[in-house]
Amino acid sequence: MTQQTPASPQAQPPAHQQPVLEIAGLRKVYTGRRGSFEAIADLALTVAPGEFISVVGPSGAGKTTLLRCIAGLMPITAGTLKLEGRQVDGPPADMAVVLQEYGRSLFPWMTVAQNVELPLKEKKVPKALRRQKVEEAIEAVGLAGSADKHPWELSGGMQQRVAIARAVAYEPKLLMMDEPFAAVDAQTRAELEDLVLRLWRQLGFTVLFVTHDIDESVYLSQRVVVLTTSPTQVLDDIPIELTGPRSQLKTRATPEFAALRTRVYETVQAAKMGARSLPYDGPLTATVPVV
Ligand SMILES: Nc1ncnc2c1ncn2[C@@H]1O[C@H](COP(=O)(O)OP(=O)(O)OP(=O)(O)O)[C@@H](O)[C@H]1O
Ligand SMILES: [Mg+2]
Repeated sequence: MTQQTPASPQAQPPAHQQPVLEIAGLRKVYTGRRGSFEAIADLALTVAPGEFISVVGPSGAGKTTLLRCIAGLMPITAGTLKLEGRQVDGPPADMAVVLQEYGRSLFPWMTVAQNVELPLKEKKVPKALRRQKVEEAIEAVGLAGSADKHPWELSGGMQQRVAIARAVAYEPKLLMMDEPFAAVDAQTRAELEDLVLRLWRQLGFTVLFVTHDIDESVYLSQRVVVLTTSPTQVLDDIPIELTGPRSQLKTRATPEFAALRTRVYETVQAAKMGARSLPYDGPLTATVPVV
């Protein structure tokens, strides 16, 4: 069932706490043989320890580019990008990433346990502790009976659970997820959302979650960051204040949820129509010619 009740997001940490992530004046220009393309322009974002933040925006806005920059997977063109106070200049040790394409993110020749164990080996965690963490993580995502199976013996939703287990076993300070549930069915998606919320609450890491699903962004987060079209920057940073524990049925049926969903939806629509700042007073939908 998907109706267990992961906690509602906690209050913001005290202001003196160092941010996990500090981005200021971030610019990313792709350069290739066919010229250059500015994907990110002057983007600012600060994330406090333990926050759960969703990033939404039009397709092609630059969400994946932003995550790849934070993950140190490609150089930035200008600006400040600090993880726990240190400028990112390569993949940081305290970070884990879960991508949409579970099929490509797990090694098919390794068992579930071996896949989860691999980053811990690279982190040089001693063998006995490694075993324990792998077992705990696999148990936490509900795959205790599948530890010795290979990814290709599992369903899509189960494979994505393995990717989540691998990320949490690593005990990252920052967990980034790029549309992690886009390829699973609605029921599995709801279960995985609650799984991530439960792990977030238990383990206290910070989450940056990219999604196209506006309801999902409101359901999961404490803040929803809406990006403009490229070159992208932050159009709005919407606090999600929902009372009570999250419940797939009850939370989504509340008037507060509906109001927040409308606000995020309208902001994303404005972004799609080219808004670069708010308030936006242009049209919210494109005019469709009647033929
Ligand atoms: N390697 C690259 N070289 C040149 N341009 C790129 C490269 N990767 C991405 N882009 C461009 O940068 C822009 C942002 O791409 P990105 O993949 O970050 O968008 P996105 O917001 O993740 O989109 P989606 O929601 O569809 O996943 C797009 O216009 C894309 O074409
Ligand atoms: Mg993307």
